[in-house]
Amino acid sequence: MKVLVIGGGAREHALCRSLSLDPDVTALHCAPGNAGIAELATLHAVDVLDGAAVADLAASLEADLVVVGPEAPLVAGVSDAVRDRGIPVFGPSAEAAQLEGSKAFAKDVMAAAGVPTARSYVCTTPEEIDEALDAFGAPYVVKDDGLAAGKGVVVTADVEQARAHALACERVVIEEFLDGPEVSLFAITDGETVLPLQPAQDFKRAYDADEGPNTGGMGAYSPLPWADPRLADEVLETVLQPTVDELRRRGTPFSGLLYAGLAITSRGVRVIEFNARFGDPETQVVLARLKTPVAGVLRNAATGNLAAEPPLRWSDGAAVTVVIASHNYPDTPRTGDPISGLEEVAEEDGPKAYVLHAGTRRDEAAGQVVSAGGRVLSVTATGSDLATARERAYRAVGRITLPGSHHRTDIALKAASG
Ligand code: AMP
Ligand code: GLY
Repeated sequence: MKVLVIGGGAREHALCRSLSLDPDVTALHCAPGNAGIAELATLHAVDVLDGAAVADLAASLEADLVVVGPEAPLVAGVSDAVRDRGIPVFGPSAEAAQLEGSKAFAKDVMAAAGVPTARSYVCTTPEEIDEALDAFGAPYVVKDDGLAAGKGVVVTADVEQARAHALACERVVIEEFLDGPEVSLFAITDGETVLPLQPAQDFKRAYDADEGPNTGGMGAYSPLPWADPRLADEVLETVLQPTVDELRRRGTPFSGLLYAGLAITSRGVRVIEFNARFGDPETQVVLARLKTPVAGVLRNAATGNLAAEPPLRWSDGAAVTVVIASHNYPDTPRTGDPISGLEEVAEEDGPKAYVLHAGTRRDEAAGQVVSAGGRVLSVTATGSDLATARERAYRAVGRITLPGSHHRTDIALKAASG
């Protein structure tokens, strides 16, 4: 199978790593990729938001499967363009991707499907905003309706800060605060059959002890020893299957990766958000534990043949990933800093700890890999349990030098120590 992956972050590096280990995959391509993915796949420079350009590339490579990683190309309709060319694509249509692209659309689908989520108001005027803030009280949860790379959400006890964020958005969703731990549960679906993956937990805040601003995600682990083992089945029944059924009923079936961001509250599981793609950094730990070769599953989802897929097989062990972020992330990150220590990780820790690249590129003049984004590396490790995986991940992090960088030191700490 010839596979083309669209995207260039650590999630795509994790996908490419799994695909490269799959004996069914005979050729692996990625656009645009990054310095790490370049070691596994042939890179192509293409505008990933240009559906026709991606479809042309896929056709010229005679790809049997295109996997679209990030949300922006999905919302821009890249999957539609590839599918229209008759090439199987893992990733929802632009219409179905509105589940991530518009918080208001997601709320509407959940209401119709009876999926449990926070009560909310969609507001466009200052009067509506004040009414909604009043109705819920602190802590306030204020979400920009559009795509904001995980940074459009403000959760605060300060009503002025909440109001200021709301007023800065064109359309805003104001909702009830959900307490309780967060879980990310992914499912692969062909629009009808839904296969949940194993749950993971992401660390969204920039600094230790959940301090600092929200980020795209600073680390993750799987499995969740504290969670009910029936969680995935419960979420399949109450959230994932009803959502997929509702989108099919509307004539806009969702095929690809459905990501449920959940809060486990005292009153039960509630959806915080949906995403229309693999989450980053959770994908790094979920794929690290998946034993079933991934290409066939993604292709069966892309072609509507998931019903015949046998149950997925998982390692009993654990996986942890720690994100190394550049100076100033999540504000305007500094880029172009040299990265060293990558070879040491490969030599000393491989294959149980490995570095997945997020924002990196090879600086040909300097003959070196340099930072090229906010999240730079996702250092991932596996082990028989979380404590072992965690120790390996942090040992590998310690071998890497990136001037000015920061990372959290408490990823999976609580879960590993029971
Ligand atoms: P989102 O982009 O919707 O995932 O929101 C980003 C983060 O904001 C989530 O991971 C939560 O930590 C927090 N958040 C969002 N909605 C709520 C809510 N209703 N109650 C509490 N925290 C929330
Ligand atoms: N890990 C959060 C996200 O991918 O949106």
